Amino acid sequence: MAEVVLFVAFPYLALALAVFGGIYRYRHSRFTYSSLSSQLLENRRLFWGSVPWHYGIVIVLLAHLVAFLVPGVWARVIADPTALYTFEVIGFALALAALTGLCVLIWRRLTQPRIAAVSTVMDWALLLVLLVQVVLGFWVSLVYRWGADWYLHTAVPWLLSLVVLDPQTQYVSSLPWVVKLHMLNGFLVIALFPFSRLAHLVAFPFWYLWRPYQVVIRNRGN
Ligand code: HEM
Repeated sequence: MAEVVLFVAFPYLALALAVFGGIYRYRHSRFTYSSLSSQLLENRRLFWGSVPWHYGIVIVLLAHLVAFLVPGVWARVIADPTALYTFEVIGFALALAALTGLCVLIWRRLTQPRIAAVSTVMDWALLLVLLVQVVLGFWVSLVYRWGADWYLHTAVPWLLSLVVLDPQTQYVSSLPWVVKLHMLNGFLVIALFPFSRLAHLVAFPFWYLWRPYQVVIRNRGN
């Protein structure tokens, strides 16, 4: 029963909150879809936190996604031991970069009075949940080696079973609790998405890449 609540009901609830909460926020306060940058208040520590955090976490999450979307291709790539070792080491280095960056961002918010003054309860909750998530991910990859491989036979079929609305918890039920916590906290991150600064993920101005040039014309009203 507990398994159904944790690995079926909770993921669906988190996804529903992310989708419907996201739509609600977009319709009611569209212009708050932002990271609410604090760069003007403090820039140097922001740089040393934000850059390693974003490079580390974005690439790690892309790897999570690629292995989920094209498991066959991923399996063929890591069938070569050299590729597997290389991914393991790169993943580890990226996780370390993300963790270091996140710690700098938290330390900046704690120690800079101007940043602390503009921080909300949700900012702190999000930072805590992300910290727990990255520490758990790091722990999993350190203690339970070759995650790039066993992820394909555990998390991927479980996540796929959720997508096709035929939940199968047996793929994850015998995993160590650290791995389970990483998965559940991952869905907590998803649930917080529309209610926190994470919303800026969908506000990233990708369209700038194909937007036409702006022609700026001076209008003196003569
Ligand atoms: C339910 C969704 C998720 C599942 C099933 C999952 C699963 C995994 C697995 C199996 C690993 C070990 C990979 C390895 O050892 O090579 C891992 C590592 C990791 N995960 Fe997740 N994860 C999820 C969500 C997330 C989220 C949302 C984040 C961050 C916001 C995250 C951050 C990390 C990090 C930083 C690592 C360490 C990477 C490395 O050292 O290679 N994960 N995850």
